[in-house]
Amino acid sequence: METTCFDLGSVEQIPLGQGHCFLIGGQEVAVFRGRNGRLSAIEDRCPHRAGSLADGIMGEGKIVCPLHGHKFDLTTGQGSEGHECVKTFPVEEKDGKIVLSL
Ligand code: FES
Repeated sequence: METTCFDLGSVEQIPLGQGHCFLIGGQEVAVFRGRNGRLSAIEDRCPHRAGSLADGIMGEGKIVCPLHGHKFDLTTGQGSEGHECVKTFPVEEKDGKIVLSL
């Protein structure tokens, strides 16, 4: 499948240590900016009961779902509940902008 790059705008729109949900081609993607400035991107909807992971709390490379506390690894998408996992997407900072590949 072909990969398309999307310019999502300035990294500054996401405060350090927080996430933001973007709607890209019908796909909800949660982009996170770690306290060290590192970006990561996963699908936004929690596989448990569709909580918005962009609103979760980040820590130690994981995001904690705001609804029931399941955790997801921001690099692999693997969840804390064994069978649960979310898609991950390549994302990087280029010239101060967020560039996501889908
Ligand atoms: S909706 Fe995410 S843990 Fe329940």
